[in-house]
Amino acid sequence: MENTKIKWTMADGRYIPSLGLGFWQVSKEDAARVVKEGYEVGYRHFDTAIAYDNETEIGEGLAALPCPREEVFVTSKIPAQIKSYEEAKKAIDESLDRLGLDYLDLMLIHAPKPWSEMRDPNKPYRYEKENAEVFKAMIEAQKEGKIKSIGVSNFTVSDLESLIEKTGVVPAVNQIPCYIGHIEEDVFAFCKERRILIEGYSPLATGQLVDLPAIKELAKKKGVTIPQLCIRFVYQLGALPLPKTTHKEYMESNAKIDFAFTPEEMEFLKGVAFTRVPGKKK
Ligand SMILES: NC(=O)c1ccc[n+]([C@@H]2O[C@H](COP(=O)([O-])OP(=O)(O)OC[C@H]3O[C@@H](n4cnc5c(N)ncnc54)[C@H](OP(=O)(O)O)[C@@H]3O)[C@@H](O)[C@H]2O)c1
Repeated sequence: MENTKIKWTMADGRYIPSLGLGFWQVSKEDAARVVKEGYEVGYRHFDTAIAYDNETEIGEGLAALPCPREEVFVTSKIPAQIKSYEEAKKAIDESLDRLGLDYLDLMLIHAPKPWSEMRDPNKPYRYEKENAEVFKAMIEAQKEGKIKSIGVSNFTVSDLESLIEKTGVVPAVNQIPCYIGHIEEDVFAFCKERRILIEGYSPLATGQLVDLPAIKELAKKKGVTIPQLCIRFVYQLGALPLPKTTHKEYMESNAKIDFAFTPEEMEFLKGVAFTRVPGKKK
């Protein structure tokens, strides 16, 4: 359980529990139970988004926890298609309302562009001015005490450079995909330089890595499960892993990553070829 208790530092100097529980594709029916069971096995960091459509139920789960508010760390995200100051302000207030919280520990811009445009080479518009407007609403909410830390997700180096240049504020984190076969080296290098914490999402490639033959032998040698190997790999790269599961036994085992890879083992894992199948859940 130790890795759920260790804290890392974000670019704004605030602390964040170094392992979080992801809530993408956690149904409304499951969300409150997942908060409760996650808490019971040691998680103190819960990662959701307005787009996940489970904030109300997560809020119910949080309200029932036997701990003070400060003991848990809650992240949400402003939807990728929200690109104006006014809409962002409203989204923040509505998110807090649904979660039943006075403040969010971390709020992110979910993506630099609306999802429909993210991977479409025919849609080159970069939303630089608009992202700065959304970030200004977040900076203001931070001053009002509604959000403790503000960050981004799925930002490239040029998205980050533009946001910092336009607002004068360095995002506390950048939440990006990070798993065996997918390491965004340029973003890692830029974030390291600016002390922006990288949160690594989909550490199991949305479940697609759990049967990968190429990593079975190393997992066996280390005496760990493949999910533990994948999550530790992200952690040891220096990115904060955000695994998702609705099963309590997986929540518990996924958090047991207090083992270490040798530099040679890390090099081996960095070289494993794996391509995620888009759209496939598992
Ligand atoms: N910012 C963004 O744009 C963004 C995008 C994607 C994800 N995220 C965040 O990152 C989190 C994690 O990413 P993800 O949801 O893509 O998935 P993931 O954590 O890479 O993989 C989750 C999948 O693996 C399965 N799984 C988990 N632990 C397992 C274990 N020990 N043994 C076997 N199967 C296991 C889960 O199944 P069960 O649930 O059935 O156990 C689920 O199908 C999200 O929930 C979200 O919070 C953010």
